[in-house]
Amino acid sequence: MKEKKANIAVLVSGTGTNLQAIIDAQKSGVIKSGEIKLVISNKKDAYAITRAQDAGIKTTVITKQEYGEEFENRITEVLNENSIDLIVLAGFMVILTRRFTETFKNRIINVHPSLIPSFCGEGFYGLRVHKAALRKGVKVTGATVHFVNEIPDGGEIIEQKAVRVYPGDTPEKLQKRVMRQAEWKILPKAVETISERIIDNEHL
Ligand code: GAR
Repeated sequence: MKEKKANIAVLVSGTGTNLQAIIDAQKSGVIKSGEIKLVISNKKDAYAITRAQDAGIKTTVITKQEYGEEFENRITEVLNENSIDLIVLAGFMVILTRRFTETFKNRIINVHPSLIPSFCGEGFYGLRVHKAALRKGVKVTGATVHFVNEIPDGGEIIEQKAVRVYPGDTPEKLQKRVMRQAEWKILPKAVETISERIIDNEHL
């Protein structure tokens, strides 16, 4: 077993089912090269915070209301204080500035609920993505894990998985299928891949 692990911070805004998938993958050993050290939420009432607390993980709430212009600076401070190597955006509904993404270049990954480059970029988040996919009438959608750069959903793709769309699907039904069949599988996988690269000091 490897001694050193990558220190992971998970950034969340909502329900936290993707956070749960990472927690479970850590418990089951799918994620063995990294350890979740911290969960940061930009929403006080996010259920993801409860999930983190139940798993014994340290949590911090950093809201734009409270920090205003200092929002990203405060996040950076907390990440540095905790010697974070890898930042995982798991339903984090904030677009990060170039300044932030450059500071943590190749150290931020995000899960998006479509097959990028479809249904992505500014304005495409959560259920809106699935509504757009259904409106277009695609027969296949899916999820993507990618590095985060200054372009929303524009960074290098790490993992993707396709999911069928069925007649009669609602955005909610489709969202659940995409989560279950794609997001909860490819996100833990990507977290392990990138954590391993970090501890092996591979060029990122
Ligand atoms: C997930 O479907 C995630 O892919 C999506 O929000 C949901 C969060 O659910 N993220 C985005 O749309 C980001 N552009 P969760 O809080 O249960 O993980």
